[in-house]
Amino acid sequence: FYRSAASPPSSNFLLLGPSGAGKTAFTTLLEAKSSPASKKSQLTHTSQASTLVSVSLPPTVSTASNRFRSVNDPSLKEVSRNPIRYRLKDTPGHGKLRSSQGISELQSMSSSKDLKTKIRGLIFMVDTAALVDEAALRDAATYLHDVLLVLQKRSMGKGKSSTKREAEIPVLVAANKQDLFTSLPPGSVREKLEAEIDRIRKSKTKGLMDASMDTGLETEEDVLGDDDARGVFTFKLLEQVGIKVDVVGGAVKGDPQEEFGSGVRQWEEWIGMCL
Ligand code: GTP
Ligand code: MG
Repeated sequence: FYRSAASPPSSNFLLLGPSGAGKTAFTTLLEAKSSPASKKSQLTHTSQASTLVSVSLPPTVSTASNRFRSVNDPSLKEVSRNPIRYRLKDTPGHGKLRSSQGISELQSMSSSKDLKTKIRGLIFMVDTAALVDEAALRDAATYLHDVLLVLQKRSMGKGKSSTKREAEIPVLVAANKQDLFTSLPPGSVREKLEAEIDRIRKSKTKGLMDASMDTGLETEEDVLGDDDARGVFTFKLLEQVGIKVDVVGGAVKGDPQEEFGSGVRQWEEWIGMCL
């Protein structure tokens, strides 16, 4: 396990999710953790454009390639001196900016052949205190549905045309703001999102069937999950088309009693497993 000092960050992660989820706060926190000398202010405001930052993984977080290493391994010291870097693209979550920013960013990064822009993982962040509100849940689930549909089309389309399977893009649903006592636990976030996506999918299927009676168009691949939309939607269903979704809780604004940034540790571990 060697890594040259000058190795540039080559793995890209895309950060999507509704407005106010905490995406920019997370990005700013990772930047501050990566270079403690230049601690930036954590004040954020609604983003209007995407930003790409280069950050580093804490040396104590394992990656898929070094997970079997023991703590006594001398290469661990090497990693502390020379942390593993990756890039994170923060996107604006406002409904009006999604198709021009988040979704189009996803489309270009997921079809990119260039290693420099290729996407290694997708993080979809939600505010778990906001999801108790029906409209907020619907908004988050609609965005996530559209994102997953892009990934599904990508993974189904490539099977037909090329023999070489492209690397799959794992999805992390980052259940943020677990510090708030009104927040929903990750398990419940998963259930609510699945149930809401199921509703969206069913009404979409119905709409497509009505439309196809007029036009006779092929519509199957526009439905998320299996084509039998009578079944209930679960994230597990997407594993059949090669999309793995994990829902993991965390908090960008952690308990001040705890170590700085410890509330995002599990998300960094997920990122590490993609590297
Ligand atoms: P857009 O740019 O509009 O898409 O939103 P965003 O996802 O970038 O949200 P942003 O990072 O601006 O955060 C919105 C608000 O949530 C800010 O006031 C943050 O300080 C706050 N926030 C972010 N993470 C947490 C958290 O873990 N706990 C709490 N309590 N507040 C948080
Ligand atoms: Mg933002």
